[in-house]
Amino acid sequence: MILTEIDHVAIAVRDLEAAIKYYQDAFGATVDHREVVESDGVEEALLKVAESYVQLLTPTNPDSPVAKAIEKRGEGLHHIGYRVNNCAEALASMIAAGATPIDKAPRPGSRGTTVAFIHPKGSFGTLIELVQE
Ligand code: CO
Repeated sequence: MILTEIDHVAIAVRDLEAAIKYYQDAFGATVDHREVVESDGVEEALLKVAESYVQLLTPTNPDSPVAKAIEKRGEGLHHIGYRVNNCAEALASMIAAGATPIDKAPRPGSRGTTVAFIHPKGSFGTLIELVQE
């Protein structure tokens, strides 16, 4: 089994502060990590749940893929991050199984991770991110 953990569940939101406050009020959640990833056009807040995260995600510009996703489908579940030991090997395994990669090779993600995204087409409608810590 290549997957070692659900790394994060990513939720696209319009107002990051409001979403953080909601998770704080509803669950007593605290922000474990916050980062602007300029290359992806997003700002994220990671709320730790055991060894996984809820990742609240908001666009930093109108051309961001997350901005387009919100425009098209509204706020909500955006992608699932699966933790793996080796992103390149996991990506190769997915491609061999017929997946359509968005990233042809692993690249830097937030928190110093190495990531690769897989297109929801061919993955039963879920945008998948492979995350190597
Ligand atoms: Co992610």
